[in-house]
Amino acid sequence: MDAIPTHEECIQILKDAGAPQELIDHAEAVAKLALEIAELIVETNHDLVEAGALLHDLGRIKSHGIDHGIIGGEMAKELELPESLQNIITNHIGAGLTEDDAKELGITPGNYIPQSIEEKIVAHADNLIDDTERIGIEEYIRKFIDEEQYKVARRVINLHNKLSELAGMDLDELTKS
Ligand SMILES: [Fe+2]
Repeated sequence: MDAIPTHEECIQILKDAGAPQELIDHAEAVAKLALEIAELIVETNHDLVEAGALLHDLGRIKSHGIDHGIIGGEMAKELELPESLQNIITNHIGAGLTEDDAKELGITPGNYIPQSIEEKIVAHADNLIDDTERIGIEEYIRKFIDEEQYKVARRVINLHNKLSELAGMDLDELTKS
């Protein structure tokens, strides 16, 4: 399938795969924020952002580990969803995982850093949503600081700053309303 699935089709894909309601609620919250970010950034494919946000945690149906991005990407491939959408799902963990991270974590070798603007938006909208609530960037990175994962924290801040620059505003503002 080359076409990007609609909002309704994405929800149906999640339900058919056995997604619990909490996962769907989380996906809806991420999609809403991701679309708000997408509207601020020119030349962003809104349909792709929406579908990517709705399906980003498809892999959680099979795994709650850090490999759920890769697993979700594989599920999307099996469903013959567009590659651009598969990549959003695969690369949505935090601000992405490097080849070294993948090696350290013992997951399928690869570079899982978000590349396209749509991949970056969905990954970061997910960072700024805890369950269904919006959280600020500081709250999100606190756990990495506490765990002394400074490299990860810095990567997330860089992504936040990059997207904020493109949006012309600090994306933290969107989490405060
Ligand atoms: Fe996820």
